[in-house]
Amino acid sequence: MELLKLKELIQGIPKAELHLHIEGSFEPELMFEIAKRNNIKLEYDSVDSLKKAYKFSNLQEFLDIYYIGAQVLLHEQDFYDLTWAYLTKVHSQNVVHVELFFDPQTHTDRGVDFGVVINGIYKALEKGRQELNISYKLIMSYLRHLSEEEAFKTLEASLLYSDWIDGVGLDSSEKGNPPSKFERVFEASAKHGYSLVAHAGEEGPVEYIWEALNLLNVVRIDHGNRCLDDEALIQELIEKNIALTLCPLSNVALKVIHKMEDHPVLTLLEKGVLATIHSDDPAYFGGYMNENYYETARALHLTENHLRQLAINAFEASWLSQAEKDKNISSVNNYFDSYIG
Ligand code: HPA
Ligand code: ZN
Repeated sequence: MELLKLKELIQGIPKAELHLHIEGSFEPELMFEIAKRNNIKLEYDSVDSLKKAYKFSNLQEFLDIYYIGAQVLLHEQDFYDLTWAYLTKVHSQNVVHVELFFDPQTHTDRGVDFGVVINGIYKALEKGRQELNISYKLIMSYLRHLSEEEAFKTLEASLLYSDWIDGVGLDSSEKGNPPSKFERVFEASAKHGYSLVAHAGEEGPVEYIWEALNLLNVVRIDHGNRCLDDEALIQELIEKNIALTLCPLSNVALKVIHKMEDHPVLTLLEKGVLATIHSDDPAYFGGYMNENYYETARALHLTENHLRQLAINAFEASWLSQAEKDKNISSVNNYFDSYIG
């Protein structure tokens, strides 16, 4: 497909974002603005010098900078502005549903109250629902480099706001922090009605994906690239209809793959895995949903049908009701059926 046409096609697809860390949507311009009003001095003296630091050779190098950036977030207004900026940005890309992660411990460990964080995020999400027609789910992630005991404290703190929280996830430094470390807190989270997902097989081995499935009982795997190392696991993912929320630009930026041409999404689609494409930390990795679709399609020569399938898979894998899924999938199909390239 001609590249200009490809861009135009992708722009118009109604899309669902299922793997997005709200702290990872923190654009440098907004970061400097909030730092200034909170009287916090960033280690970098300009937007440009900060952006120059966005060169990572692995997940940890990224996380180190990501946690520094989040330190300027102090007040409800800050979390609101961060979330609202993200929603207006993705609205311009025709994203109609978001399931977003936030990392409470990144903030509560600095003395910022859980309520401050979630009130800001929730108010922006509600405004997005009313004014931009973006439906949403909210996922609280436990930081896996911290202890399970700390995760239990976070679960406890979340209960006051459980009506606003749909699920829990597991993120941060993967290697050396297997899903098994969080078995009990995931079980307790499920008892409180939270749905379960976990990052696994991004940098960590295929065993971590098995653990996420068998010990944590997750309904989706975030990333999961490494599943290609294990044919039995692929069969399990297909049989149980477990989605993999893949993040192509993130994978290139964090050297999970060498180049986009090596991305596993096409192989996984062709095997029949419920693979989806998302943006992870768009302010750090060079793009939001459209850019992820575009760069992947270009490198792997995806067809219109592949793109249609990816868009449908994301609604299929979402936590929307069946009626809402059907409605969104129809609008994806209508869009592709009437598209004249
Ligand atoms: N992996 C693990 N933890 C994260 C990520 C990621 O890509 N982004 C934000 N926290
Ligand atoms: Zn992620």
